[in-house]
Amino acid sequence: MKDIKFLHKDNFDYEKYVNMVKEYHKNGKIFNWFDYIYDCVNGDYTKVFWADLEPNPYLVDWLKQNVITKQDKTACVIGCGVGDDAEILSEYGYKVTAFDISQSAIDLCKNRYQNSKVTYLVADLFDYPKDWFENFDVVYECNTIQVLPNEYRKKARVAMSSLIAKDGYILVSCRSREENTMQEVIPLPLSKLEMDEFIYIDGLKEISFEAYDDTQEPPLPHFWGIYKKS
Ligand SMILES: C[S@@+](CC[C@H](N)C(=O)[O-])C[C@H]1O[C@@H](n2cnc3c(N)ncnc32)[C@H](O)[C@@H]1O
Repeated sequence: MKDIKFLHKDNFDYEKYVNMVKEYHKNGKIFNWFDYIYDCVNGDYTKVFWADLEPNPYLVDWLKQNVITKQDKTACVIGCGVGDDAEILSEYGYKVTAFDISQSAIDLCKNRYQNSKVTYLVADLFDYPKDWFENFDVVYECNTIQVLPNEYRKKARVAMSSLIAKDGYILVSCRSREENTMQEVIPLPLSKLEMDEFIYIDGLKEISFEAYDDTQEPPLPHFWGIYKKS
């Protein structure tokens, strides 16, 4: 792809982006475009268009309200992007494993946080290391399901739930949509029924659920859900 600037934060072109994603989907290359998003910024993480460059405020609130007393608590950050959420979990005392399918994303994290305590690594949610199964006290998911189409969404949710240890939590942040709407609108936001599958299919308990509009102009609807494995 010659024109890469349309993917940079300060020059982002939604239509070109959507066409690019649809082209990859059409060719069955569901996972091949993520690395391109991170690679095309040439090492400048501030140009990654979907990176907020600050931890999710809902995650920060949760961490403030759920201070850990033991230092051996583990957290896993799925599709960690440029690392802000992984770092805040680490600051609050978790032993954090943060992974992404994109090597370029992990390179950006390692360069950005050279003294980090977080273990950053390339891994695929659909083929993660066996010893991660039911291994994490907190699993954090922000906007990964929503970049996946069709059957990969359910498979991703099941894989995420399988990472949670007994009595552990998954915290889920995503764009949202009304039921039976926006099914083709990239970035493919989640419906409440999709969120509820953490409960009805994966057997987790809903601890809290919030639907809210973010602070962008115009505001975009989001969900913030917390589920527990017993
Ligand atoms: C929209 S980005 C969100 C990044 C970050 N969580 C954030 O909130 O800024 C989705 C992320 O999921 C990653 N991803 C997609 N499929 C994945 C998979 N199968 N395994 C691991 N990471 C994946 C992508 O590379 C990308 O970094």
